[in-house]
Amino acid sequence: MTPFNPPIHAKNPHLPFGDKQDSPFYGQDIISVNQFDRQQLAYIFDVAHEMYEMVARVGSFDLLKGKILANLFYEPSTRTSSSFTSAMERLGGSVIPINNVSYSSVTKGESLPDTVRTLEAYADVIVLRHPEVGSSALAAKYAKKPIINAGDGIGEHPTQALLDLFTIQEELGRVDGLTVTMMGDLKYGRTVHSLARLLSLYDIRLNYVAPDILSMPAEIQEEIGAKGIPQAAFTDLMEVFPDTDVLYVTRVQKERFEDPTRHENLKGIYVVTAETMSHAKDEMIVMHPLPRVWEIDMAVDEDPRAAYFRQMEYGQYIRMALLAMVLGKA
Ligand code: NCD
Repeated sequence: MTPFNPPIHAKNPHLPFGDKQDSPFYGQDIISVNQFDRQQLAYIFDVAHEMYEMVARVGSFDLLKGKILANLFYEPSTRTSSSFTSAMERLGGSVIPINNVSYSSVTKGESLPDTVRTLEAYADVIVLRHPEVGSSALAAKYAKKPIINAGDGIGEHPTQALLDLFTIQEELGRVDGLTVTMMGDLKYGRTVHSLARLLSLYDIRLNYVAPDILSMPAEIQEEIGAKGIPQAAFTDLMEVFPDTDVLYVTRVQKERFEDPTRHENLKGIYVVTAETMSHAKDEMIVMHPLPRVWEIDMAVDEDPRAAYFRQMEYGQYIRMALLAMVLGKA
């Protein structure tokens, strides 16, 4: 075959065709929340707001027409993968879904760097969920197109933290001055690792409620402490619940336990019920990244302070904003 002239690989890898190259995050990877400052967060939330208004008005529109997202999931997902799909499709783009890697070349022994270099030949952006900490950073090292970390083992889940922060801002109207209590599996829960770091950019107070074996990792507490954020650990929610503005509940990540009986022993210890809610402020919210297993009783769903289903919807607008930004259209 006659070689391309000039060779394809000599061109700007980030598809310069009509893209706004001065768009914040254009062509960038989203790997960790540590890459954001408050000004950038405010910008992302403004774009997410515009996405919300557009979806409410017209449902979908053609901002990313012709762009392709590869959704590469090596771990189970309902919300993250489907909200990235709906975000891309509402913006007029399309999606290559690889959410069952057992049907892909991964089972033939293909390495992550090779898989992402394959997908970037066909797609403009890759969303990656993988069981190993650092997998998205590794993929980004090899890929020329943007990689968005959708969860790297017990490491980070930056797009979840962005939607969590957006939820707090939208529901309570502010972030500064709030007391945020995180409860459940703080050791293996990547959502709380990212959220705690992101919240440390604000003037907040952080409480951790967990059994000793699931406490917030010391290195994350040190990182947050270095920013001057007051943090305190408790084993009983009632010690801090009446003063809490945001209760962020997490599932015990049983798939991360080496010994499953240890997970069974924890079952039912940290559960939010309607009775628990009677001790909370009137103006506060309960959040959860979902899926919920037993840690919030279904009776709590009727309480207007239960924000976890609304939180999911905010995620779609955040992911629309991020895709538009990394692809140079916002
Ligand atoms: C979380 C995850 O995958 O880390 N889910 C999500 O993305 N909404 C939380 C969890 O699985 O418990």
